[in-house]
Amino acid sequence: MFTVFNYFILAVLFSLIPEGRGNCRNLKFTNFHKSDYRLENHTVRTIEVADEGLCMLQCYLEPNCVSYNFCKIKQASGKHKCDLNSATIEHDEDLVKYESCIYRQAENACAKNSCKNNATCQAGFTDRDYQCLCALGSGFEGHNCDKDIDECTNGTHKCDMNADCHNTPGSYKCTCKDGFQGNGTDCTQRFNTAVFTNLGKSDSQGPDSVGSHYTGQDHNGQVTVSSGIQLWNVPHTGEYRIEAVGASGGYGQNSVINGGRGARMIGNFMLTKDEIISILVGQKGIRGGVNKNTGGGGGGSFVVRGNNIPLIIAGGGGGIKNMSEQHPGCDASINTTGNAGSNSPLGSGGSNGHGGNANGQSPGGGGGGFYGNGQGASSGSGRGGKGYLQGGRGGHARGGFGGGGGFRSGNRGAGGGGGYSGGNGAADEQFSCGGGGGSFNNGTNQQNECCLNSNKHGRVIITFLQ
Ligand SMILES: *[C@@H]1O[C@H](CO)[C@@H](O)[C@H](O)[C@H]1NC(C)=O
Ligand SMILES: *[C@@H]1O[C@H](CO)[C@@H](O)[C@H](O)[C@H]1NC(C)=O
Ligand SMILES: *[C@@H]1O[C@H](CO)[C@@H](O)[C@H](O)[C@H]1NC(C)=O
Ligand SMILES: *[C@@H]1O[C@H](CO)[C@@H](O)[C@H](O)[C@H]1NC(C)=O
Ligand SMILES: *[C@@H]1O[C@H](CO)[C@@H](O)[C@H](O)[C@H]1NC(C)=O
Ligand SMILES: *[C@@H]1O[C@H](CO)[C@@H](O)[C@H](O)[C@H]1NC(C)=O
Ligand SMILES: *[C@@H]1O[C@H](CO)[C@@H](O)[C@H](O)[C@H]1NC(C)=O
Repeated sequence: MFTVFNYFILAVLFSLIPEGRGNCRNLKFTNFHKSDYRLENHTVRTIEVADEGLCMLQCYLEPNCVSYNFCKIKQASGKHKCDLNSATIEHDEDLVKYESCIYRQAENACAKNSCKNNATCQAGFTDRDYQCLCALGSGFEGHNCDKDIDECTNGTHKCDMNADCHNTPGSYKCTCKDGFQGNGTDCTQRFNTAVFTNLGKSDSQGPDSVGSHYTGQDHNGQVTVSSGIQLWNVPHTGEYRIEAVGASGGYGQNSVINGGRGARMIGNFMLTKDEIISILVGQKGIRGGVNKNTGGGGGGSFVVRGNNIPLIIAGGGGGIKNMSEQHPGCDASINTTGNAGSNSPLGSGGSNGHGGNANGQSPGGGGGGFYGNGQGASSGSGRGGKGYLQGGRGGHARGGFGGGGGFRSGNRGAGGGGGYSGGNGAADEQFSCGGGGGSFNNGTNQQNECCLNSNKHGRVIITFLQ
């Protein structure tokens, strides 16, 4: 009976098996069989056949098949069920009693399980009587799939060009090279710290472009300018320490002191790689060419996330007309309310993100806030500074970019400073100043101080912590 099968099958095999894998199958069925049993849980495929000989033939043709159950129960088609199995009875517990079935198996070189690393073993192939199909992406090759593929020398790794590749068994690791930062498949130049400046621009309008101002610095190539505001593409996800310093106000030539001083606000913030942070660096208020005895307010410095969410804002100082000593009202405030200045009628400047006021005799313009413009003359000079959301332009005349209020010509009132809320414009008094702008800080580890920046433009310093 068995020799008949074998002859029949060999004859058919030679005509049927294509030379696909370059090796023929030599599966040897043994005399071992179990009547009224079937092997469960290892069936690759169940087919219907006319007789047991065809069940065995199909087992030859199925590369993963090493045994079968042939069940002599007539199906609707008039044929019989044939389970092609990928295991032999090394799994004894799976051989279960089942009437009318017969279990038969071939010599199974895969029972020894020589294929490693999740490879599929197929019995009856090659002169070892089995072959291993290495698992896709396992990182191993060779007859038994136990030979590590060196992806690093192989060129099949996915490390960034600025990463080092380290081979590991079955895989590899990528680490960014010195001076670069990232997860290994994506490495960008490491960002440590960068100073955002006024980009060489002064007076009421912001810069037009970065030019070569940041060449050779950590933020080189990460900044574009839109309407005077610098758009910074965050290089790494992580915590950053951000320091914003407001610009100082302008001062008349007869003034013994410089203009009101800007605030310095520092805090830590979590930023996400590729998010855009908008940075407006405040510019100094300036005295007039003809109106030399008064000055415009200084601009605030603003650091703002995505959809106009303020992170940190440092107020600018007020313009000074003719003062012989410092007065706190001329400097920026570290709270959100702007200052009233000195010798002006009103008690406080703008609050809650609004612009500063302008009252009294021939006043300078109020400083702009985050949300709104400073008050001021509707024509000529003494105009309010624009709010951040309104573009931040300094008021005419000579309010600094960042919402500095303009002075009133004829050597009259000085302008208020821009900031989270604007400082008031000064009334036309002999000794007077516009109020400094208010500030805002939504970071952790805050360090805030007023009166830092004397006779300077603002700046923003950003340091990557980790
Ligand atoms: C084996 O198959 C039987 C029935 O076909 C099933 O009840 C049992 O849960 C299976 N065992 C495993 C380990 O899959
Ligand atoms: C084999 O496959 C299992 C399950 O998919 C997986 O957990 C294991 O890591 C794999 N082993 C190897 C060496 O690839
Ligand atoms: C490189 O990988 C390919 C498969 O992606 C493999 O065929 C080849 O043998 C490997 N070479 C080395 C040197 O590991
Ligand atoms: C590596 O980081 C890049 C960019 O952040 C990301 O797109 C990629 O999915 C990351 N890859 C891994 C393996 O984490
Ligand atoms: C400026 O103030 C000084 C006193 O500090 C005064 O002598 C001078 O006249 C003032 N100048 C103007 C233009 O108001
Ligand atoms: C805000 O700071 C100013 C000084 O810049 C101070 O005069 C004022 O009282 C403060 N306001 C609040 C609400 O703390
Ligand atoms: C401050 O930041 C927190 C998130 O960190 C946010 O929920 C909150 O609205 C912010 N506050 C203001 C006033 O923007």
